[in-house]
Amino acid sequence: MPFRTRYTGLIDRYRDRLPVHDDTRIISLGEGNTPLIRLNNIPRIVGKEVDIYVKYEGLNPTGSFKDRGMTMAVTKAVEEGSKAIICASTGNTSAAAAAYAARAGITAFVLIPDGKIAMGKLAQAMMHGSVVIQIKGNFDDGMRLVKEVADQAPVTIVNSINPYRLQGQKTAAFEIVEELGRAPDYHCLPVGNAGNITAHWIGYCEYSSASGDHVTEACTFCKGHCKYAGGAVVGNRPKMIGYQAAGSAPFMRGAMVDDPETVATAIRIGHPQSWDSAWKVKEESGGWFDECTDAEILAAQKLLAEKEGVFCEPASATSLAGALRDIQTGKIPEGSSIVCTLTGHGLKDPDTAIAQSTRPLVNVEAKLDQVKRAILDNM
Ligand code: F0G
Repeated sequence: MPFRTRYTGLIDRYRDRLPVHDDTRIISLGEGNTPLIRLNNIPRIVGKEVDIYVKYEGLNPTGSFKDRGMTMAVTKAVEEGSKAIICASTGNTSAAAAAYAARAGITAFVLIPDGKIAMGKLAQAMMHGSVVIQIKGNFDDGMRLVKEVADQAPVTIVNSINPYRLQGQKTAAFEIVEELGRAPDYHCLPVGNAGNITAHWIGYCEYSSASGDHVTEACTFCKGHCKYAGGAVVGNRPKMIGYQAAGSAPFMRGAMVDDPETVATAIRIGHPQSWDSAWKVKEESGGWFDECTDAEILAAQKLLAEKEGVFCEPASATSLAGALRDIQTGKIPEGSSIVCTLTGHGLKDPDTAIAQSTRPLVNVEAKLDQVKRAILDNM
């Protein structure tokens, strides 16, 4: 049997399009290469002729898309001699920073909002040995403090204001184009800090361009780190649609929000760091922003779990919740291909999942007749 090439992570796979050198020590946990799952049952339930795919980013090593950016950010931090990284986080960035710092043998400091991150994410940050600093404030307070600290201490910021993060995250768009053979018509994402929507647009633009770097205004955000995708010239680019939680929707308000609130704690952000670039992405792609209520978000999370067998965290379901509404109203027309990014795994937040479960647990004695009765009653 020929020996198949082992998948060794997205930097190795897309080395020619990322800012690394031949001798760069790559810090990887095998991130990327996540499934693009075509929804079978939900389009039928909605009664519309659409192709909906979900990009299941929850299957990255630490359970979220953050690993794509973190492999790049930590690789570059180590290359530049940094011994410590720092981030503010609603949970997933801290989990990824902690894991990749452990892998690299450096220290991670993570600032999280006290009591407002999902249990699985807290467990990850603690288990990987990062220094967890809980602040009596929200993500936006944490972000401000991280910037202030990094000015005064030898620590590298690995939030998405670090341009290497977006370089790693753009590879999700490469994978989608390669798998579908073209870009989708619409790409829907949950938006918090707005780094990921920016990263995807950079990826689509690089892939569709025959001419090379900086094909998009938003791409100036890459601060010169783009490299021409080369090879395949696909041509089309999707309309980018960013959905926010209604209680944390600065892009809908057209202004920063000081007290963001939502059950989708991952996107409980009122002062997005990538404010300008996200507006450019919307303009350039011909897309739009919209908002979803917490009830809509949880309903979409449940629908996906019950009808397709895919378990994502609440924030992630915002992309599908918004897409389903826009499909139903015809804003996304029939015949379209749509990709919804599912940014994080459902196991990150078991409390919210169990709390919204409507099917009661069936409690019985450990006896055959009682188990049989429970089965017959629920057939
Ligand atoms: N979905 C999940 C599950 C997230 O964790 C985040 C961001 C987003 C969506 C939004 O992505 O910020 O690029 O627009 N989480 C960050 C964190 C803020 O700290 O883990 P964005």
